[in-house]
Amino acid sequence: MEQTLVILKPDAISRRLCGEIVGRFERKGLRIVKMRMFEITPELSKVHYADHIDKPFYPELEEYITSGSVVAIILEGEESISVVRKMIGATNGIEAELGTIRGDFSMSKRQNLVHASDSKESAKREIEIFFKEH
Ligand code: CMP
Repeated sequence: MEQTLVILKPDAISRRLCGEIVGRFERKGLRIVKMRMFEITPELSKVHYADHIDKPFYPELEEYITSGSVVAIILEGEESISVVRKMIGATNGIEAELGTIRGDFSMSKRQNLVHASDSKESAKREIEIFFKEH
């Protein structure tokens, strides 16, 4: 069984979409292994988004991801990394296919509700960052 890391971002919480999003993952057949709510600090944002620090949009990304609580979830299932990436859709909510989480609920490149690991390496790394004891 493969594990992946999902983060429900501050807009998912402020828009009361956590239940909708987690429900989709559960109905698909993915299992919640661990889940925690907390705030991402600027330091943690720089660790998690290390690959994006030099990008022009990073300052606004950090401002957004530290603007409120997030929920981090470890999900488990066969090929869960690619299944969850398909379910969340393209980064930009305007371009994401209808039927995906971002396609159905987001109109933004930045405020796109949810983050999910994009590879086995990033899943391992991100699970270690957000669930140190796991
Ligand atoms: P995520 O999947 O968490 O990975 C990086 C995040 O940066 C992405 O979702 C968006 O929230 C944000 N992002 C990516 N590209 C852009 C962009 N061009 N402008 C603003 N924010 C972006």
